[in-house]
Amino acid sequence: MRVIKVGSYEEMSRVAANIIAAQIILKPDSVLGLATGSSPVGTYKRLIEMCKSGDLDFSRITTVNLDEYCGLDGSHEQSYRYFMDVNLFNHVNIDKANTHVPSGTASDFNQECKRYDQLIEGLGGIDLQLLGIGHNGHIGFNEPEDFFEKGTHLVDLKQSTIDANSRFFERKEDVPRQAITMGIKTIMSAKKVLLIASGADKKEILEKALYGPITPQVPASILQLHNDLTVVCNVD
Ligand code: GLP
Repeated sequence: MRVIKVGSYEEMSRVAANIIAAQIILKPDSVLGLATGSSPVGTYKRLIEMCKSGDLDFSRITTVNLDEYCGLDGSHEQSYRYFMDVNLFNHVNIDKANTHVPSGTASDFNQECKRYDQLIEGLGGIDLQLLGIGHNGHIGFNEPEDFFEKGTHLVDLKQSTIDANSRFFERKEDVPRQAITMGIKTIMSAKKVLLIASGADKKEILEKALYGPITPQVPASILQLHNDLTVVCNVD
């Protein structure tokens, strides 16, 4: 594990974007696993700048996102598909057909989970997975549980996650109670994992995740077993 401590959100974003840029330059047809939340917004901004200045080419890149809220379709402003379009895809030269987010409005979620796993497998797996971390240690929407869920699955969101994410919604009642998320096996199968965390409120959970016992009660703790994990953080 490599832990890169930085002094600000901006610095975290620059370093994370540089690592993703290096991946794209070294392997222009990379499969990138992407994340939502406030942590990666600055990283995406920086990637957009690099693309606009001609230093990065997304034309052969494929992306797979970690998760999506159940019940929200891609035109809903709080859906993760919408988030990705607005914060990254609309501003770089990526082929939208090569950007994948689980469907939050599938008629059969079991089928959708299977389809998503097969899609990732068919792409040959993920070259670099970007991750944020929730206050309870969740990655994607893999919430604390008694066991690690391996594949893409449906999740009942914890009240603490609903509360944390309600800041993006007009009313707390509007936050979906369920989500569809990539599982731990898929995340752990990514060739490289890049975890970003910013803010003093993430310090305690980040320490638990990186140095505490490996337990499904702190889903991010499994990342200790990944052999190419880079953490870029500003939590002090
Ligand atoms: C959400 C997402 C996660 C994200 C987490 C932390 O629940 N599903 O992928 O890492 O929130 O978000 P933030 O970066 O806003 O703290």
